[in-house]
Amino acid sequence: MEARLKDFTISYEDQGNGRPVLFIHGFPLCKDLWEPQLQALSENMRVIAPDLCGHGESEPATGPYTMERMAHHCHELIEYLQITQPVILCGLSMGGYVSLSYCKKYPREVAGLILTATKSDNDNEQGRLNRRNTISVAEQSGKDPIIASMLTKLLSPTTVENYPFLVKKVDGLMHNAVSVETIIKDQQGLIDRENMTPFLGMMNLPVCVMHGADDQIIPLSEAQVVHAALPFGRLVIIPKAGHLLNLEKAVIFNQEILSFLQNNYLL
Ligand code: MLT
Repeated sequence: MEARLKDFTISYEDQGNGRPVLFIHGFPLCKDLWEPQLQALSENMRVIAPDLCGHGESEPATGPYTMERMAHHCHELIEYLQITQPVILCGLSMGGYVSLSYCKKYPREVAGLILTATKSDNDNEQGRLNRRNTISVAEQSGKDPIIASMLTKLLSPTTVENYPFLVKKVDGLMHNAVSVETIIKDQQGLIDRENMTPFLGMMNLPVCVMHGADDQIIPLSEAQVVHAALPFGRLVIIPKAGHLLNLEKAVIFNQEILSFLQNNYLL
């Protein structure tokens, strides 16, 4: 499905009925990341999964793709869909940064938050250096080297060994999801993002922090920092899962979402 927003035409999936849950993908991915959630969870809730600007089938917008802008686009989509009840947000990695920005900007319009494989801190000097390096590699050599280096880190060693089809699937997903231009605009937006850790203590809503024990992109310790700072937080650590735990351990991930929402009377 498509919706015309102020800056660009956004592509999104919208399946099921009931409480709206907005699933926000990470870098360098698109809404297809959420295929196992769209299939299973839309029996219990309304699953909405957008392609952020320039990702998947959404049109590009002018860069950089800051977390605030992408949060604003997600909010515009909710308005377009004429949803007036508070939504649940589920963001993975960069999608988690976008979700936090959404909560900060529209606090009364969010009923619950699922932070997946993400963190609240902004980049340190080394992190910013890595992003500048990613931008120059993309400018000089295109997207293939970026995707190849992400692929080795996105999944846990156990997944890589036992589920080669998933490795192939994630590789294809990344190739379809982003252009060089999108990689650069994402990195430009990520590099200057706000440190959201001070904001966590003010979050007056239930939050579920989910993390793969073997995440090689964002270490588990980051999820523990987030959890410790939250007034109403639950931490779920999924063993033998990496950064894409929703794909790697889809059944457990979906069960955890269901029980979090049910236990907090959100369904
Ligand atoms: C992601 O998985 O969305 C990104 O790798 C997060 C980041 O670069 O900080």
